[in-house]
Amino acid sequence: MPSTSRRTCPTPSSTSGVASACSTSPWLAGSAERRTGCIVTSAGRFRSVSKRVLIIGATGRTGHLLAEQALGRGLGVSALVRRPEALGELQSRLSAVQGDVLDPAAVSRAVAGHDAVLCALGPGRGSPPTLCSEGTRNLLSAMEAQGVRRLVCITGALIGHPREHLGWLYRRMRSALGAAIQDRQLQEQLILRSGLDWTLVRPPRLDNGPARGSWRVGEDISLGAMAHINRADLASFMLQQLDNPTLIRRGVAIAY
Ligand SMILES: NC(=O)c1ccc[n+]([C@@H]2O[C@H](COP(=O)([O-])OP(=O)(O)OC[C@H]3O[C@@H](n4cnc5c(N)ncnc54)[C@H](OP(=O)(O)O)[C@@H]3O)[C@@H](O)[C@H]2O)c1
Repeated sequence: MPSTSRRTCPTPSSTSGVASACSTSPWLAGSAERRTGCIVTSAGRFRSVSKRVLIIGATGRTGHLLAEQALGRGLGVSALVRRPEALGELQSRLSAVQGDVLDPAAVSRAVAGHDAVLCALGPGRGSPPTLCSEGTRNLLSAMEAQGVRRLVCITGALIGHPREHLGWLYRRMRSALGAAIQDRQLQEQLILRSGLDWTLVRPPRLDNGPARGSWRVGEDISLGAMAHINRADLASFMLQQLDNPTLIRRGVAIAY
């Protein structure tokens, strides 16, 4: 991948909705380069509009990194967690609201007083098959009721990325998983139908390697069999979206 600090815009046809971010938005100010059908972007400068963020899934692998990075950027961070002790050393640095995303009252309590929500909710062993849709339904209701408009939510490339941009492996996985991804598809539909300022983030395989600081992102990037992204960069990208209006009401994939 060539690297450059030049700022260039992709063609609108290749990145509808993303192209307009290029010339004006601080989230691309670090570095951005044109490639086929995507923008390569990096962590760049960060100027936060959202001051208080709620993280769903902060005890998980991406959620933990989201919390660490948000705190490092001086944001006020809260987390809705079932087991506050699972936050480890983060517990003393953020505001933990104990509760289950499937409990509407707990979600409502957690959402109160925030500017934005970052959702890294994911099913684990013993999760009900409707975890993501039901949890998201509660989240959207609470956000709408309390006027918290900004939501950046992870789903997955298998869920909503256009089929023609998926390589053979992801196409086969999508077909094979069938009913198993219905909950995530419903989660996306609920968000798409909401009136909130949402951004759907659809990564392929997640890895735990170190942040690289640059990635491809777009509504129509190609995702081959080896496509992946490290959770540290996924978290960084999600935090950038707090200041990036150009991806509001858009779903994008992110990968190296
Ligand atoms: N793994 C991949 O390759 C891959 C690929 C594409 C997309 N994704 C998606 O990317 C996202 C992040 O993945 P990850 O692997 O970083 O996540 P993860 O480590 O599995 O973390 C999931 C988080 O969800 C929380 N959670 C589950 N049920 C909950 C409930 N009822 N109430 C409140 N919190 C609940 C967990 O809390 P507890 O600690 O209490 O369990 C945990 O904090 C997920 O949506 C995942 O599906 C993953």
